[in-house]
Amino acid sequence: MLKGKKILLGITGSIAAYKATLLVRELIKAEAEVKVILTPASLDFVTPVTLSTLSRNPAITDFYIEKSAGEWVNHVELGLWADLMLIAPASANTLAKMNQGISDNILLTTFLSARCPVWVAPAMDLDMYTNASTAENFVALETKGIRILDSAEGELASGLVGKGRMQEPEQLFSVVQEFFEPNSILKDKNVLITAGPTQENIDPVRYIGNRSTGKMGVALANAFVEYGAEVQLVLGPSSIEVDRTQIEVFDVKTAIEMLEKTKEFFSSSDITIFSAAVADYRPKMVADQKIKKSDSEMNITLTKNPDIASEMGRLKSSKQINIGFALETDNELENAKKKLIAKNFDAIVLNSLQDAGAGFGHDTNKVSIVSKNNIVESTELMSKQNVAKKIVNFTEDLVNEKISSTL
Ligand code: CTP
Repeated sequence: MLKGKKILLGITGSIAAYKATLLVRELIKAEAEVKVILTPASLDFVTPVTLSTLSRNPAITDFYIEKSAGEWVNHVELGLWADLMLIAPASANTLAKMNQGISDNILLTTFLSARCPVWVAPAMDLDMYTNASTAENFVALETKGIRILDSAEGELASGLVGKGRMQEPEQLFSVVQEFFEPNSILKDKNVLITAGPTQENIDPVRYIGNRSTGKMGVALANAFVEYGAEVQLVLGPSSIEVDRTQIEVFDVKTAIEMLEKTKEFFSSSDITIFSAAVADYRPKMVADQKIKKSDSEMNITLTKNPDIASEMGRLKSSKQINIGFALETDNELENAKKKLIAKNFDAIVLNSLQDAGAGFGHDTNKVSIVSKNNIVESTELMSKQNVAKKIVNFTEDLVNEKISSTL
């Protein structure tokens, strides 16, 4: 399954570096192509000779191959070569530098120019792991699209017991394998996602909008891709970066445009997620010219926008799954359940408005996933990427339920 896959393995200064050697061996056994980059600090734990021998490629330790001859390592080419860049172990220091864009060694420089997915398997001591700065770096890196292969609990080199231990080489190997050959029930399923805000024009320079950024929808799109789904994203105006090589993106502005695009692909979609914050109303008249300031008051007459989720709910076949979002300020659960029924959703994700750090604009979120009968799961406040994963895992269960109910 991994035959010919190009994997760039970064090793940083941590005692877990020795475990990376076992990972290289597994990857080579599976016929992957592996190139290893070692940071200066990692050289206290493993040697370039070990890694060159195991990976069957010269281990890279510096910007130069032969400085006096002007022979240098082309980090841009390395970044383009890789199908996947995995930094394991990733120390607190390297994670902090990655977040800041610091590039004072060949591993960090390659990371900055890599276009492939980048994953990190952190390894550090318990207190470093739970330190507020490290925790912030984790969330920030995840928001930038870096996948964190979360550390396991266990005995640490310091003698302390807790989080911080790098995942075992076999676990890392199976995550890599799963990435290249997903065996999730969602593999090859068509997933359509609406995300972001809509902008409803008033005149050529003004619009009515809302504070949605699209972060949750983009995190969902990435998570479904990770599980092997084919993802189409109908995205309102958003500045969030999207990997357009893996996700088919349709940029839209208004609710009407979002409806048109969603309708175009809905019939071929297996799972549709409505995470967009669609404006409920739009100006009835859109001025051709910029409206001039005149009276002390100004009124804009609004007219109702189409409800995209409701319209797709009416078109939905028994094989399709629709999942909505709800943001409520009162009678949260009751209102969410009403929306679920009214819009023919299979489940609805209720955003918590009670928690600072959840909802529009934040990197974190806290949600309850509600099905027709019950709350299925309530999350803690966590990164939107992890919330997305919970939703994807829940969707796997829904797909399995649909399959067994038709047997
Ligand atoms: N939605 C949609 N099209 C709209 C309005 C909402 O597709 N015009 C979708 C949202 O993407 C979300 C769900 O419907 O998945 C619920 O959105 P929400 O704004 O909470 O519901 P509304 O029906 O607009 O109800 P209200 O604003 O009155 O609470």
